[in-house]
Amino acid sequence: MKIIIINGPNLNLLGKRQPEIYGSTSFEDFFTSLKSNFPQIDLEYFQSNHEGEILDKLHEIGFDYDGIVLNGGAYTHTSVAIGDAVAAITTPAIEVHISNVYARETFRHHSYFSAHCKGVIIGMGLQGYELALRNFIMNQE
Ligand code: DQA
Repeated sequence: MKIIIINGPNLNLLGKRQPEIYGSTSFEDFFTSLKSNFPQIDLEYFQSNHEGEILDKLHEIGFDYDGIVLNGGAYTHTSVAIGDAVAAITTPAIEVHISNVYARETFRHHSYFSAHCKGVIIGMGLQGYELALRNFIMNQE
């Protein structure tokens, strides 16, 4: 089973960025533990601060992989283009947000991705990524 985690802008700063909101674990450390907890998944990680690079990655993998765990960061609330790409591809995506975006500014309440995703996991911290992987596994069995 081949799954990719795609993180959008500023998520490379996890661990250093507003730890009161996003926690103090770096995504690299978290990803290492995810990989060892899910040996049955061929798990990849891609992060970019550039909208076009995220589009290119979705196009590249979006017809072959079994699942995408997508945290588009702020592009979630602005990018019609990434929303269109999620709609265009055949690989199912689960949208994840570390923080509870509904408890934050109203501009974070709208997502251009959600309507095209299999589901959405919000406000569960880094555990949200794990829950998304579990969902892909359970639905494969
Ligand atoms: C985020 C929420 C977004 O509103 C924000 O722009 C992010 C991170 C989250 O994981 O909680 O960069 O996607």
